[in-house]
Amino acid sequence: MRTYLSLFAASVLVLFAAGCTAPEPPPPAAPATDYKPTATIKEIMDSMVDPSADVIWESVATYVSAAGIEERAPKNDEEWAVVRRNAIILMESSNLLAIPGRHVAKPGEKAEDPAVELSPEEIDKLIQEDPAAWTQLAHGLQESVAPVLEAIDKKSAEGVLYSADKIDIACENCHLKYWYPNDKRPGAEPASAPESK
Ligand code: HEC
Repeated sequence: MRTYLSLFAASVLVLFAAGCTAPEPPPPAAPATDYKPTATIKEIMDSMVDPSADVIWESVATYVSAAGIEERAPKNDEEWAVVRRNAIILMESSNLLAIPGRHVAKPGEKAEDPAVELSPEEIDKLIQEDPAAWTQLAHGLQESVAPVLEAIDKKSAEGVLYSADKIDIACENCHLKYWYPNDKRPGAEPASAPESK
């Protein structure tokens, strides 16, 4: 009888506890890792990476023409601000590249030169097979911009000129692995010095 009683008590307790349970909490908000990539890698290259890198490269350069030699460098705060904004875009675009689940191109898009370029499907597959290698090269881009940003903050045209070449190497390191690994032209080698700008 004692056992029955205590079993009864236990079940009452269980029922009581169940009855008192607060209503199911709402499902937790989407975790911070729930990205929604919309643009393709190609589009990010075309809209952010390439134009912002060009602004940096073109901001400090030596132009030789019939009119003579022009040493170009940002001349005032406003011009430095333009270069700085583009350095920020370029630096953070590396995180957009690292977001998982982003496709290289839209379905049906083809490589422009299939003789040297991998198809978007092949590139997607390479990224999926080893996401860490891809992310590392994306971070390589980010790291290559950091010294440029420092030079911009010191308004050192010489510093930008010197460090901006490293950005080109970060672009090529990734392109040679994923985009045109079959490119055997001279100079198309990882970490090679960029051609003069
Ligand atoms: C982490 C890898 C990675 C880095 C870093 C990277 N790219 Fe790319 N880029 C790619 C891939 C992959 C493609 C090929 C996409 C395709 O199929 O056209 C590409 C394509 C491009 C294209 C062609 C876009 C088009 O419309 O077809 C340009 C231009 C480009 N990259 C410029 C750059 C520049 C400039 C940098 C450096 C400032 C850079 N990329 C850094 C991976 C990278």
